[in-house]
Amino acid sequence: MATTVALLNAWKQLLTLCKLNDRESVVILLGDESHPDHVASAKLALTMLGARSMTLQLGETSLVRIAGESTAYYAPTGLTGNLPALEAMKRCDLVIDLMGMYRGSEQEEILAAGTRIILVKEPPEVFLRLMPSASDRERVLAASAVLSKASTMHVTSAAGSDLTVRFGQYSTLVQYGFADEPGRWDHCPSAFTARWPDERSANGTIVLSPGDTILPFKSYVQTPITLSIKDGAIYDIAGALDARYLRDYMATFNDPDGYAVSHLGWGLHRKASWTALGMYDKRQTNAMDARSFYGSFMFSTGPNAEGGGTRHTPCHLDIPMLDCSVWVDGVQMVDQGDLVAADQRG
Ligand SMILES: [Fe+2]
Repeated sequence: MATTVALLNAWKQLLTLCKLNDRESVVILLGDESHPDHVASAKLALTMLGARSMTLQLGETSLVRIAGESTAYYAPTGLTGNLPALEAMKRCDLVIDLMGMYRGSEQEEILAAGTRIILVKEPPEVFLRLMPSASDRERVLAASAVLSKASTMHVTSAAGSDLTVRFGQYSTLVQYGFADEPGRWDHCPSAFTARWPDERSANGTIVLSPGDTILPFKSYVQTPITLSIKDGAIYDIAGALDARYLRDYMATFNDPDGYAVSHLGWGLHRKASWTALGMYDKRQTNAMDARSFYGSFMFSTGPNAEGGGTRHTPCHLDIPMLDCSVWVDGVQMVDQGDLVAADQRG
């Protein structure tokens, strides 16, 4: 394991943004793929900030993920049913999640105990490049304040997207890259807001265009894909090779819930770039550039349990899109890929 001055300082900055103080205790949750430089740097930063800390590495699970891709599935982990590990995290103040716990019931239980959780999955270079700041928080809160009060969203694009949804049943995702309040979860780095639509309320069409990104494929769409959506779910996936690939991938789950429309929102990170994904090998990045880039529209499919719903399907796609326009309650927030309202531009 190794650290650098830049990485150590970045960890100290993140933990300071998380309002860590020297009276607090911290669990570093490790997985088989936790980056050793993050482990070393986080430990050192915690020591320098005077916190009590322990590392917790869970046993292996029987789950075998395609390509080892933890973002491809939402599924049980070594934490599932592991009550001593759960208790340790409920009793500490901050969990540094370098494993990527399932964003389901265990995470909810830990947060309900007042513990803060900060997830870090990107490698050091992305972590350093997209390090969050206090201004990210202000920009994301300004956008999410509008979204969380909204009753409707309307999304269009020149490529032919035209989707409407209703809001009210489920919560809003507010990610600015640090966990600074009791019971708050966040993922560093990231800056976006999104919300889960009401059941069966999504209707219309999403047209994925060349340059849009499908996660977990971590690749750019090359040929247009038309997603036809009725009563909250995709019922047709039309197009050439990219459409067939998406259609056949989703079919492997054999789960109707995978076709439901999940969280919808937009990216607010000034330093994230839609082109960054093309610079990495797929195992080198968690694609937070793609999820966060400024003015992107995030379409997604599958589960809504995290937002308060009942769908736990493991088939989950995040699809950040270019050049879309987004209105909430008739107020335009994104204009062809550019943020509109002054307080969310920063
Ligand atoms: Fe997602």
